[in-house]
Amino acid sequence: MDLWHVRGGKRLTGVCPIQGSKNASLPILAASVVSPARIELENVPRLSDVDAALRILRHLGCRAEQQGNAVYIDSSTCSCSDIPHALMEEMRSSVIFMGALIARCGEARLSLPGGCQLGKRPIDLHLSALRQLGAEIGEDGGEIVCRGGKLRGTRIALPFPSVGATENVMLAACAAEGETVLCGAAREPEIVALQDFLRAMGARIRGAGSDRIVIEGMEPTGRACARIPPDRIVAATIACAAAATGGDVELRGAEAQQFSTVLHFLNRAGCDIMCRKRSLRLIAPGILRGVGEIVTAPYPGFPTDAQPVLMAALLKARGETRITETIFENRFRQVPELRRLGADITVSGRVAEIRGVRRLRGATLTAGDLRGGAAMLVAGLTAEGETLVRDRGHIMRGYEALDLRLRALGADIDREY
Ligand code: EPZ
Repeated sequence: MDLWHVRGGKRLTGVCPIQGSKNASLPILAASVVSPARIELENVPRLSDVDAALRILRHLGCRAEQQGNAVYIDSSTCSCSDIPHALMEEMRSSVIFMGALIARCGEARLSLPGGCQLGKRPIDLHLSALRQLGAEIGEDGGEIVCRGGKLRGTRIALPFPSVGATENVMLAACAAEGETVLCGAAREPEIVALQDFLRAMGARIRGAGSDRIVIEGMEPTGRACARIPPDRIVAATIACAAAATGGDVELRGAEAQQFSTVLHFLNRAGCDIMCRKRSLRLIAPGILRGVGEIVTAPYPGFPTDAQPVLMAALLKARGETRITETIFENRFRQVPELRRLGADITVSGRVAEIRGVRRLRGATLTAGDLRGGAAMLVAGLTAEGETLVRDRGHIMRGYEALDLRLRALGADIDREY
């Protein structure tokens, strides 16, 4: 159990380097299995989710190690196609190994994935798409058993732009005979990063970033190097922390256009935002304004992952904000905890209404998921007195050294672990 101690009232100022993207790193780590290759990755964040993915790679027989923010993999020795429950349950995105294993081994055996409790989080879209490629997928005692055999390219239409299902299709289709056309694909920047990596591995793939991705197969190159792009949700989190404290912070390495919807609302809340190539500076007023209606949506819409941290930044804003969460059915878990600080939030179904209050008072909170935990830290930065966040490792799944980053900006925060 991590105990985060936050003493509020400090303005955040200075320069914050933005880490590599967790949600780009994890599918790229899985993709390293698709064909035998020696792989070098740069700017990989040091996170417990990355550690979990590296453990899975080593279990599969690959050499995989992280040195600082570099990761070295040799997937030529991959010799196993099953992932035990203990390794699967550590994170949701372990399901992404399914497509990679079907491509490489023609089969895969893994249990249903774990991850944040954001709702049911089924994988029906993954399974349906892989079956359309010809994979035979059954269940055996809570485990998914896939036999790929020879996969055949086909046209697949996703009824919802699921990020994970898009990634699983991209990986499996690399080994399919003939062309695969994926319609209704997710358009997140992490999908583009995965395409770039697969191309380096020898895949003939195009269209990532649009809702139509075409995969024509693969001529393995045997080696690949890639640099992980910046984490747009971590950048959004630091921007919200700066905004919440009336701060003046430069986000070094951030790609502003990848979280422009978040910046749009921070600007509407009264922040001045100056964007340069690979960085941006945010200067916040003493008091933010409520921003009216926010509706989360698949990229390029407002990202669900930034919803909790923007909510936290607006708890003392003058005026109201109304957030509709359309992606996950249980993504307001942070609300009861934020109310313990004195926040005025009412939730009705998928809509949360935030009315700004003049003061928040420190309290003891419990993090229930990754972004909800980060939101509690953001709120604690603006509360009087000390806020203690009890956290079973959620925050460190996605934020590299968040305590050190915030302390370097002037926050009075430390983490007992
Ligand atoms: C990815 O999760 C991200 N995780 C999530 O970030 C992010 O919130 C999510 O995409 C949406 O942007 C990683 O990339 C590792 P989805 P994923 O498949 O792939 C439903 C974070 O904080 N759905 O796009 O699991 C699902 O229940 C994490 O970094 C099905 O119904 O998301 C959800 O309601 C949290 N059937 C919605 O779609 C399926 O087969 C979005 O899911 C798959 C998904």
